[in-house]
Formats: sequence, structure tokens, C-alpha cells
Amino acid sequence: MDKLRISGGRPLEGEVRVSGAKNAALPIMCAALLTDRPLALANVPALADVATAGKLLGQMGVAVERDGGRMTLDARRITSRVAPYELVKTMRASVLVLGPLLARFGEARVSLPGGCAIGARPVDQHIKGLQAMGAAIAIEQGYIEARAGRLRGARIVMDLVTVTGTENLMMAAALAEGTTVLENAAREPEVVDLARCLAAMGAKIEGAGSDVIRVEGVGRLEGADYRVMPDRIETGTFLAAAAAAGGRVRLTGAAPQTLDATLAKLREAGAKLAVGEDSIAIEMSGRPASVSLRTAPYPGFATDMQAQFMALDAVAEGTGVITETIFENRMMHALEMQRLGADITIQGTTAVVKGVGRLQGANVMATDLRASAGLVVAGLVAQGETLIDRIYHLDRGYEALEKKLGALGARIERVK
Ligand code: EPZ
Repeated sequence: MDKLRISGGRPLEGEVRVSGAKNAALPIMCAALLTDRPLALANVPALADVATAGKLLGQMGVAVERDGGRMTLDARRITSRVAPYELVKTMRASVLVLGPLLARFGEARVSLPGGCAIGARPVDQHIKGLQAMGAAIAIEQGYIEARAGRLRGARIVMDLVTVTGTENLMMAAALAEGTTVLENAAREPEVVDLARCLAAMGAKIEGAGSDVIRVEGVGRLEGADYRVMPDRIETGTFLAAAAAAGGRVRLTGAAPQTLDATLAKLREAGAKLAVGEDSIAIEMSGRPASVSLRTAPYPGFATDMQAQFMALDAVAEGTGVITETIFENRMMHALEMQRLGADITIQGTTAVVKGVGRLQGANVMATDLRASAGLVVAGLVAQGETLIDRIYHLDRGYEALEKKLGALGARIERVK
């Protein structure tokens, strides 16, 4: 199994181009199921999760063609309406086929995702919303068995803010009869990106980006050409790395307007930022100052950035208090960072991070995607060698991470 070896303790310097957003590409790929016309995408990142989504759609009969960052999906002939356990267990976002399959074909059989390393992550809100739109849903042998005639528009008040839940229901509502109003909807930029793609396909959606989304169902959707938005979490990860390790880094092809909470915390940590229309430059000299934060749904501080900021706090001047409010078990990286010499005390879902003068390289293990990213940031600032195990997590969500960091002068390599 591949590992990542980092010899840390050097500042980062140079320019990196941001990839397309994983968490926008995945729902947008699933939206191809809503139409019998080709959906042509650009800026699709080369990631393990994107490959898994391609495989999932492929085994349903979708013709998937890929050429660099371009991907064409053609769901004219669907031969199976099943998302099997083998694929869903490797990628929970597979549940995003549920809404589109049900809306277009009136049936879907999707494996229940089951447990997850970062928290329970149920999908009850997806199910509840589809039931409100007239679907009959049962759980049988670990599968969500869903059936419906044409879905009917409904007013759905979600119990909590869920990103993929909002996306699933928005896609289903696009082909439903009548108007659907999603209240307490997720405001994440990826939801907006999906709504834009659906609009390009002919859907009638208002309010994406606010907590009330109104979808007027249409009889059919067309194909479209659509460019996936830049990855705000990848962008934030590079910025956090530069803030922790020091140096000057410029990110291009980014969407700075989706990163307000992250940029505010970086400024608080003492970073100098120059924000352009689609670029962000960061300059950091000296030790960062500790920052305290609470994760929250967008536009709050992203849970997907929490681990990277814990690494920053680990070497910062002062004490930072980090509270995770989205997932109940998303602090596993803290224990690994302790192996690098970080001074972190966990109390429930809060971490108290006392900055130390230096971290020291060690062998650590990645437990999930963003935990891995946090360990990479910590490895970049640690003196000596850090060896990160289980980096397949990293490959799920970061395109060519070691190449991009290498281009910034980091000593980082993949080893068998
Ligand atoms: C999305 O996951 C992202 N994944 C996650 O990114 C991200 O961490 C998360 O949103 C929060 O921002 C994709 O977009 C593919 P949620 P999602 O439903 O949609 C609870 C990464 O590293 N909940 O918004 O699965 C849930 O347990 C990944 O890139 C219910 O209780 O997250 C959690 O506590 C990890 N019932 C909270 O809501 C439901 O039906 C928010 O989860 C649905 C969710």
C-alpha cells in the first residue's frame, strides 16, 4: 500500500493551479441520470472518487467518456437502477443516484451507506424528502428500495442542513410534477454549482445558495455543457499548508468568493493575502498565531478544513480551541498529530491545541480524506521525516497532491 514520505521544515514557494471540485463533480455526474441527452463536463478532477462515480454510473448503463478534465456522460440507455453495496461502501456520495433514478425511472435500489469513520452519517433526510414527494421507500436487505409514479412537488422542511440531502432532493424535484420548496436547505457553493448545471439542462430552480430553494418541475431535461467549479477545500488546504510552513504561494483557477470563512481565519493567523478574481496569493513569515474556530454549515467554517487548521494551530503561537459541530467523530487526526509532538487535548468534539515550537516527524496513519490532508500539513512543518500510511484516502479527494506540493518546493514522495 502506498505511503507518503515528507521531509518537512521548509517554507513553500511558487504557484499551483486548483482542480475542479470533487464535491461538485460527484453530484453533477449523477445529474446525467436525469436526461437521455449527453452531459458534457469540463474541469472534472482526476480523483479516485470521480473514478468510482464513473464506475457506478457505467454499471447502470451510462456511457462515460473521459479525456483529461473533460467528461461526457450519456444516460440514454439505462440497464440497471441499482447502486450496489460494493461501490456505495467505498463512496457514500453514491447515494446521489437515488433522487435522479427515482425521478426519471420511478424506481431505484441503492445500498444504504452504513457507518463511516467520521460519524454516523444517516440518510434519513434524503428518504424523508423523497417520501414527501410521493415515493414509497422500504429498507430491504441493506438496500433503499424506492418506487414512485411521477414524483410530486412538495414543501419539505429539512430537520438539519445536509449537503447531499439537498442535492438529491433538488435533482428529484427538477423532474417532479409541480413545485417543490426545500426549506433549511444547504447553502454550500457545491449546491449552487449543481443548481447551475441543472439550470443549463433546463431545470427551473430559484434560491440555490439560500436556505430556501424553489424548484418548478419540468417534463424533461436536456443535455448541457458545464464547467465544474474550482475546489474550495483543495484551495484552503494549500493555503493552510503555506500558513503553517511559511513562504509565498499563489493559487490560480480558484474561486475566492467561496472561501470567506477560511480566508478570515488565515488573516487572523497572520497571513497576508492578496485576493484576485480567480486567484489567491498568500505570504506568511514567522510563526502563525493560533486561531479558534467552530465548524458550521456554509457560510460558516467548513468541517472539511478543520484538520488542516488543527495542524496550523499545532505549531502556532498561543492556544486555539477547535470545535467540530457537523460530524461527531472527526478528530482522529489529533491523536496522530500528537505522535508528531503536537499538544492537543480532546474534550468530546472540542480540541484544545497549544502551539509548540516544533513538531518532529514520525510514522502516522490517515483515517479519512481530510484527516490525511491535516497530516500532510503537519508533516510539512515537522522537522525530519514523516511517513503517512493509508494515503488512498488522500487520492479520493486531492489531484496530484504530492506533485503540486513538490512544485512548491516541498520534499514529498510516494513510496510503496
Ligand atoms: C458533504 O457530505 C460532503 N460530501 C462532505 O465532504 C462534507 O464534509 C459534508 O457535506 C459537510 O459539509 C459531499 O459533498 C460528497 P451532510 P454529506 O449530509 O452531504 C447529518 C469530504 O471530505 N445528516 O451535509 O454526507 C450528518 O450525519 C466529505 O470531501 C443526517 O442526520 O454531509 C451530519 O452530521 C466528507 N441525516 C450532518 O447531517 C441525513 O439524512 C451534515 O451532513 C443527512 C445528514
